[in-house]
Amino acid sequence: MARYTWPFWLLLLAPLVMAQTQAITPLDIVTLPRPSGLSASPNGSLAVYTQSVYDSKQDKTLRQLLLLDLETDIVKSLTDASSDSTQSEPFFLDNENIAYIQHTAGVDVDQLHVLNLESGDSYALTEFPIAFGNIKYNHKKSLLVFSASVYPGGSLEDAKQKDKVLKETKKDTGLVYDQLMVRHWDTFVPEKVNNIFVVQLENDGKYTVGNNTINLLKGTALQSPGFPMGDASDFDISADGETLAFVSKIRSPDNAWETSQHVHIVPTSGESEPVIINGDIPAASAGPKFAPSGVLAYLQMYAPQYESDRNRIIIWDPATGTKTTVAESWDRSPSELAFSPDSNTLFAVADEYGRHKLFSIDLTTEEITALTNEHALSGLSVLSSSRLLFSLNSLEHPNIAHTLDLDSKVLTKHSVSDALSSHLNRLDVSKPDEFVFQGALHDPVHGWILKPADFDASKKYPVAFLIHGGPQGAWSDSWSTRWNPQVFTGAGYVVVAINPHGSTGYGQKFTDDIQRNWGSYPFIDLQKGLDYVLDTNEFLDADRVVALGGSYGGYMINWINGHTNRFKALVNHDGIFSTLNAYYTTDEVYFSEREFGGVPFHTLNRLVYERWSPSNYVQHWQTPTLVIHSGRDYRLVDGEGFATFTALQRQGVPSRLLYFPDENHWVLKPANSLRWHKEVLEWIDKYAKVDEVAVRPEFDPQSSFTVQTEQFLSSTF
Ligand SMILES: *[C@@H]1O[C@H](CO)[C@@H](O)[C@H](O)[C@H]1NC(C)=O
Ligand SMILES: *[C@@H]1O[C@H](CO)[C@@H](O)[C@H](O)[C@H]1NC(C)=O
Repeated sequence: MARYTWPFWLLLLAPLVMAQTQAITPLDIVTLPRPSGLSASPNGSLAVYTQSVYDSKQDKTLRQLLLLDLETDIVKSLTDASSDSTQSEPFFLDNENIAYIQHTAGVDVDQLHVLNLESGDSYALTEFPIAFGNIKYNHKKSLLVFSASVYPGGSLEDAKQKDKVLKETKKDTGLVYDQLMVRHWDTFVPEKVNNIFVVQLENDGKYTVGNNTINLLKGTALQSPGFPMGDASDFDISADGETLAFVSKIRSPDNAWETSQHVHIVPTSGESEPVIINGDIPAASAGPKFAPSGVLAYLQMYAPQYESDRNRIIIWDPATGTKTTVAESWDRSPSELAFSPDSNTLFAVADEYGRHKLFSIDLTTEEITALTNEHALSGLSVLSSSRLLFSLNSLEHPNIAHTLDLDSKVLTKHSVSDALSSHLNRLDVSKPDEFVFQGALHDPVHGWILKPADFDASKKYPVAFLIHGGPQGAWSDSWSTRWNPQVFTGAGYVVVAINPHGSTGYGQKFTDDIQRNWGSYPFIDLQKGLDYVLDTNEFLDADRVVALGGSYGGYMINWINGHTNRFKALVNHDGIFSTLNAYYTTDEVYFSEREFGGVPFHTLNRLVYERWSPSNYVQHWQTPTLVIHSGRDYRLVDGEGFATFTALQRQGVPSRLLYFPDENHWVLKPANSLRWHKEVLEWIDKYAKVDEVAVRPEFDPQSSFTVQTEQFLSSTF
């Protein structure tokens, strides 16, 4: 570009143009277009995805399909979103035809439609009697594979008829259970289960559905995808279309306290029942993926009762029945796999140092190479032997399609819709920085720091100190519509987000170290990390630090309130009040049993639960706290939030309760999310944006901690 042709006055205007960007608000986070579900055409020239946009005036989310030409990098809308017709879950039937779920207002069951890219014609493909989803398509045999919730092993029609009879005859609302689980995540466990169906598509000019839809789990009590959080990554079809691999638990009361989940194989003809290939391992397996050669890779944990054990990569050869572990000593836990076209390389997605990266594993040499180093990667497709397609999102932007040329190593960021780019362009997006300090156990601990909009290094800023849940998770260079750090930088805070012991992506030992140490190592890391950033950044105001966290982060907020007065205000979203009550009321009791060393009705284990229970330290609570909980949170039930609020109110600690009757462990509805953000920002502003610093009594966490533990031990046991 000939830079001398720019008129001088335009350069003077440049700062004004820059200044037109605006600080990010919660409304931006909620209304920013959300791209999802990138799917490539068989010859790799095109990709299709869904874009959802929340319209806050109508309180409606509109979804439409976008087509990305991977050669010309042009994005165009394939469908127009309107409030009574939206589209999602698109995939290619062939290079010219796309299938997708059509949602039409007033229609009972959303069905698959087909859109021809050449002619622009569309037509209805399926007429299934009940809702279905998690669609995969096998091009070789034209097989449509999908899941639906049916009576165990039954047909789609059978589920429709039984539900109809039930609706007509059952007048009461009573639910009866003889075993755990009663509830899972946000739903009372129903009699119906997810089963996987297969049907052949025919094409004589137009696609039609064959007359024989088979339940591949018939004759079993299996469930796949898992309920209620499973998805299409729970199963895969072999390239020749002959075999389906899926993961399933056995339906049993043990499911509440065991994590065992096994890989099953079944012919897509449905002529025999599924068989288990890893029944000898009492732990979780996941993510089956066939190679073009016909071997099957899957992810295997070995620790029973543990959801955060390191995933090992196993390759199973159906011809010989042998299993091989790949890259056994690689201390990362992959979550998604794909094979190269020659089946000699495995691509694996895994957390590492606050990123969600892509690695390649040479199956001959076991050499591991990082193919991406920044951001968070998802939705991997292998387009050819030299080209990969995936989405990357980051702390600065939501999902954007990227292609990677494996020969030249060139990473190409593709265009996004005009709606997304124009919205992003007018926002003052904060760039993340990172730091490492020495935490508990002398380990290096990693954290992120983001400066506020309109940052001026000569000023002092309040700090929003974010604590993540899991606890086996991490603050990563990724975009989120919940706990997005940009909301807080947009509101004038410096965000500090640390990945303490228990976090993922720093080796399995670091993840495991939190077990039986919920209030020690992570608490020490958080304290030391905050000290470190306050010491090294002049622009932080140590007197105006607020701490916020959800789930385990909410537990830590309650723990903090009993052990330090350094924060001006706290926000506890869906946290734990009593570790014992949380054990007896949660859906997945294996979680607590693993974290606290066993069942709490054995005395020694009970000591571990009691030792780390925030309820034993409420007498020290003094910091103003906003408590948030939701009625459909069956992971940590709303009683934990009410108990926290009672302890605060009864002791006269400034506090407020925000309750959502219709949300689960996460606040997902856009209008509720806006309310959440409004209450959270108003609460922290009230305490961190006043000038005078309230005087608090001195408090020594170490001595009070010891006294409390001893008092407890002598009085109870
Ligand atoms: C892929 O198929 C489309 C539609 O038939 C065609 O326009 C395009 O040229 C093909 N691309 C390649 C690389 O063959
Ligand atoms: C499906 O249709 C074929 C012919 O198109 C017929 O031979 C077969 O019996 C039908 N199967 C069922 C289950 O209706």
